[in-house]
Amino acid sequence: MAKPMSRRAQGQFLPISMTVNGVAREIEVEPHELLLDVVRDRLGLTGAKRSCDVQVCGACTLLLDGRPVSSCTLPAFEARGRGCIRCKRRLSSTAAFSAGSARRG
Ligand code: FES
Repeated sequence: MAKPMSRRAQGQFLPISMTVNGVAREIEVEPHELLLDVVRDRLGLTGAKRSCDVQVCGACTLLLDGRPVSSCTLPAFEARGRGCIRCKRRLSSTAAFSAGSARRG
């Protein structure tokens, strides 16, 4: 039986290049992926948060070419070739552990 084609083989990924916090990045994104998910889940930069998901609260705000954008609704491919995304850096493992411990009580 033939193995199903991967999404990459089906051409469902879009290669994009962007500069994140001064570092050039080359990644492949799915057409429906949001910039917030790519920055948080793929690049590990957790400074932008998901909260309202409808461009109201500003928790997901990133600077894209110096302009604030709501990354919770912006498709990641819209950032391709854009100059610069600025967001807070990844929490250190110690800080993440401390935050998790504090939440658990
Ligand atoms: S999560 Fe609230 S504006 Fe994006």
